[in-house]
Amino acid sequence: MKHFSILLTLLFSQQVIAQNLYEGVPVFHGAKITGNFPNTEFLFTVPATGERPIEFTAQNLPQGLTIEPSTGIIRGLVKEKGSYTVKIFATNAKGRAGENLKIEIGDKLCLTPPMGWNSWNVFTNTLDEKLVMETADAIVSSGMRDLGYQYINMDDYWHDSTRAPDGKPVANPEKFPHGIKWLSDYVHSKGLKLGIYSDAGDKTCGKCFGGFQHEEIDAKVYAEWGIDLLKYDFCFVPFKKTEALSRYKKMGDALKGSGRSIVYSLCNWGLFNPWEWGESVGGNYWRTTPDIVDVWKGSPFWNGSFMSIMKKQTRLDKYAGPGHWNDPDMMIVGNYGKGKATGGGGKYKGMSDLEYQTHMSLWCMLNAPLLSSCDLRSMNEPTKNILLNPEILATSQDEKGEQAKLISKTNGIWLYQKNLSDGSVAVAVFNTSKSEKKFDLKSSALGLEGTYQAREVWKHIEAGILKDKIELTVKAHEALVLKLDKN
Ligand code: GAL
Repeated sequence: MKHFSILLTLLFSQQVIAQNLYEGVPVFHGAKITGNFPNTEFLFTVPATGERPIEFTAQNLPQGLTIEPSTGIIRGLVKEKGSYTVKIFATNAKGRAGENLKIEIGDKLCLTPPMGWNSWNVFTNTLDEKLVMETADAIVSSGMRDLGYQYINMDDYWHDSTRAPDGKPVANPEKFPHGIKWLSDYVHSKGLKLGIYSDAGDKTCGKCFGGFQHEEIDAKVYAEWGIDLLKYDFCFVPFKKTEALSRYKKMGDALKGSGRSIVYSLCNWGLFNPWEWGESVGGNYWRTTPDIVDVWKGSPFWNGSFMSIMKKQTRLDKYAGPGHWNDPDMMIVGNYGKGKATGGGGKYKGMSDLEYQTHMSLWCMLNAPLLSSCDLRSMNEPTKNILLNPEILATSQDEKGEQAKLISKTNGIWLYQKNLSDGSVAVAVFNTSKSEKKFDLKSSALGLEGTYQAREVWKHIEAGILKDKIELTVKAHEALVLKLDKN
């Protein structure tokens, strides 16, 4: 029997890999499928890297849509329901690449886990127009848009002190001097989308006005403002399942009737098992846990360390699929304990870069929303390398939408597995212990027969052939991710 071991030495530094993304022929990334409601504004930026400038063209675009050649931004409105397969071409000085994009005009949004950013963990109440605009600029200049990051989500504290006399929501005019519509125009001009936050009670968790009994007017105004996503919280609501169901459904229905494709994110911290009913109230994803904090282990009161959050994801895989995802909370990659919310006011020192990489690996395996919450304007190189690794992102954005199953826990190693749409299998070998471990990855444990070519996703290297087993060495707190392709 032949054994192959993984070379843990990096053959190429990840920095070189990140640079190489912007050289050579165009390469497509991110979602290959996108959904929108009929007769509502459509916006999708084709994620692609390669030497710029790149010229984008499309064949078979449904009537009503156009593609902007210099950016790949597709806009417009499709009147009728339908499934369209569009062929996108990207051409630069080095060559030409083509790829199919499926556009589903129907009743589902979020056909792959949403990718983007959320203001809360780092900025809390200092959210304002300038931050949103600078973050949009940073998503473009860092290359995140080219890999599929799309949503800029404003969390709590965008509000004025009260609603308008007619009941309409109003943004704080000092923080948002040009108003939210102006801001969404800016965000949309970059091919990105704008999210907002409210609450199923009459106040948000930060005590701004909530959405209770204003669902229809709020959804209507959000649509007028050009909002693309709503995160709906659960503060100031009686802790009863019936209240959760009825209040979330009310807002879900209002969003559906708003005339806009607005993704709906439920945030009741996993109370009353939202994975069992989230989709029925119109939710596209639902929080499964209390708020994440920037620390590896322990369960600080109410909030969750990384490991306490991971423990709560077990056996939830069957509830996830295209259009409806489990949400273990925003990503803390690159926060290093500095987040106003996740740092606990200096209490939590943050995690190591390897731990942040593990966090990213597992969020991709779990098909969690990939909402970065660090300051995108000042990311260091390790943070960029974690957020901008195309191969790990591909395991998240796979069209099949299968959330990885935790298939075993042995000697501190948690083994995750999921099937991808091209017939390959993604595996994460997660060493939860404090010391480096050897681990035999066995075909039998994965239910696989025959031989598989193993590729190490983070390092972009071939890692040998899996026949009966591969011997792996996994560092403390590392999640080694392999893609197994049948030979
Ligand atoms: C919490 C929520 C956080 C953030 C915060 C805003 O309930 O879990 O993610 O949205 O409220 O006040």
